[in-house]
Parts: sequence; structure tokens; C-alpha cells
Amino acid sequence: MFKNSKIYVAGHTGLLGSAFIRKLKEQRYSNIITRTHKELDLTNQNAVDEFFKKEQPEYVFLAAGLTGGIIANKTYPAKFLHTNISMQDNVFESAAKYEVRHLIFYGSSCIYPKNSPQPMKEEYLLTGIIEKTSEAYAIAKTAGIIACRAYNIQYKTNRFIALVPSSMYGHNDNFDPENSHVLSALIRKFHEAKAAGKNQVVLWGSGNPRREFIFSEDVADASIFTMLNAEKLENMHYNIGTGTDYSIKELAEIISEIVGFDGAVDWDTSKPDGAPKKLLDSSKFLKFAWKPSFALKEGLEITYQWYLNNFQQTRDGI
Ligand SMILES: NC(=O)c1ccc[n+]([C@@H]2O[C@H](COP(=O)([O-])OP(=O)(O)OC[C@H]3O[C@@H](n4cnc5c(N)ncnc54)[C@H](OP(=O)(O)O)[C@@H]3O)[C@@H](O)[C@H]2O)c1
Repeated sequence: MFKNSKIYVAGHTGLLGSAFIRKLKEQRYSNIITRTHKELDLTNQNAVDEFFKKEQPEYVFLAAGLTGGIIANKTYPAKFLHTNISMQDNVFESAAKYEVRHLIFYGSSCIYPKNSPQPMKEEYLLTGIIEKTSEAYAIAKTAGIIACRAYNIQYKTNRFIALVPSSMYGHNDNFDPENSHVLSALIRKFHEAKAAGKNQVVLWGSGNPRREFIFSEDVADASIFTMLNAEKLENMHYNIGTGTDYSIKELAEIISEIVGFDGAVDWDTSKPDGAPKKLLDSSKFLKFAWKPSFALKEGLEITYQWYLNNFQQTRDGI
């Protein structure tokens, strides 16, 4: 990938997509193309075909997708399945037809079995029952990973690359209290409790489950690194994480300290905990000599600062 290569960032207004725009510009890539959801609905096959035919991108970061927390996944499973599958399918077909050099697709750690041994290795995919609440989303993501492999085999290329990041956080995340992921929901809850002068916050579950988080800037950096080292990859998906997990209780402590909320936390144990631990084994990717740059606390401080400057315009809903 050269500095003047034509690079399409799909989903550039989102959490990961916006990190690409910052990183690519910082690294002086000068030929970046984007389309908003309104300008190009990636679930529309004809529109996607027209776009690829006209623009002929050489590299594609497919950071467009439909994501959400437990409630959103439970309420809109058909939407999660349909939107993600049709977007990725349309983009893959056009990328193959117009011979994109490399495309990166993003899976999610929920593709792995609910009771998977920890840390989760790439080869555990499709070896057990997955978590029911995110089943539709996980099936769409699994289909995308298998599709990358299948297109590479059928077209005898290494065009399609699948990366599986751990839970991401950062600028432009969804902070909707009902539909967001755990980390952004905690930021919002603690922030609003502090602003309202409350001395107590109620959080879901026991606080014991352990999760791994990665800053979106690090995933963008790892992805650019991947494009530059694509020749070294095998036809498989690669996990990308920090290698460190935190209990939700520890996460709540770190976030409440950053936000400056000094009240009490009550754990509503009538609410489900989900899997006890989700930690990726990223050793295969880390062997290529890439490593994340941001510790959790540092990334969270940056994210909270972004939230403070932007919370009036953050997205709501899914
Ligand atoms: N967030 C995580 O923790 C996480 C972890 C692992 C993997 N991933 C994967 O990484 C990718 C990026 O996730 P993210 O968290 O950055 O998502 P995000 O913040 O929700 O951003 C998604 C982007 O996709 C766009 N989009 C959605 N539907 C579209 C459509 N039909 N046509 C065109 N654009 C559309 C959105 O635009 P609008 O907002 O205008 O609709 C937005 O720009 C996804 O594939 C996700 O599954 C995410």
C-alpha cells in the first residue's frame, strides 16, 4: 500500500472507521475515499457495484457494520443478521469483481464458543455452541470470516483478510445507554450520575465477568500494518487484542476514577453476566512484531475527553 494508493474506508463515521481516517492522514496517505451511509447504502448490491466500478479502490478497510450491546442484539437479531451479511456480501463480490488488492473484514470475539477454553485461539471457531444473545450477529461475522477464506481459495488470491479485534472503544463510539457496549455504557452512566449529583450507580450483573478491550486507534494501526505485511499472512483469520483482561468491577473502578464519580456502585445481580471470561489469544498476529500502543487507562482518558467534547452529538439507537 503506497501513500497515493486509492483506499476506501467503509464506515468512516463510526468508531473504527473514524480511527482509520485519523491514522491514515497522520501517516500521510493522500488518496482516501469515503461515502456516508446516506450516500451509499452497502446493503444495496447495485449501488455497491456501481461505486466499485466507478472508483476502483485498491485497498478496502471494511469498517462498516451493524454493532450493539446485549439489548440491541436481543431486540433486533434479524436486522443484525441481514444488514451485516448483505453489506459484507455485496462488498466482497465487488472487491473480487473489480480486483481490489486487499480488503480487511472485521469479525468479533463473540464468534467463539460460549464456553471456549481461554485465551481463545483462532482454531476454536466453530468448535462449540455460541452465546445465544448475540447468535445472529456472530453468525453473520462467522460467515464473513469463512467468506474471506472461500474467496481466496476460489479466486486463488490473498485479497481477503479477516481480523478479529477484542471489544473496541474510542472516539465516535455509540454511547446509547440501551444499545451500546459495556465500556461506553459505563462512561455515560458514571458521567450522568456525577452531573446529576447522585451518590449511587446501579450496574448490571455481578461485575465478575472478565473482558478484553482495545483502543480503536490500535486496531486501525494494526490494520494498516496488516495491509503493509499482507504477503506474510496465511489464509486464516487473526485475533487482535492486548492480551490483558479486566473484570467489569475493575473496569468500573477505572472509569469512575477517570470521570471523577466518587459515589457507590450497586451490582444488580438479577441481571445476566454472560460468559465468565473473554480473552483472545493474539499470539499469531503478535508474531509479526506489531504491538498495541495504548494501555487501557490512557485510551479511556482520551475517550472520556472526546465524550466530554462531543456528548451532545453522540449517536443514539442502533
Ligand atoms: N465495536 C466493537 O467493539 C467491535 C469489536 C470487534 C469487531 N467490530 C467490527 O468492526 C467493524 C466496525 O465496528 P464499529 O464499532 O466501528 O461500528 P460503528 O461505530 O457502529 O460504525 C459502523 C459504521 O458503519 C456504517 N454503516 C452501518 N450500516 C451501513 C450501511 N447499510 N451502509 C453503509 N454504511 C453503514 C455506519 O454509518 P451510520 O452510523 O451512518 O449508519 C458507521 O459509519 C464492524 O464490522 C464490527 O462488527 C467491532
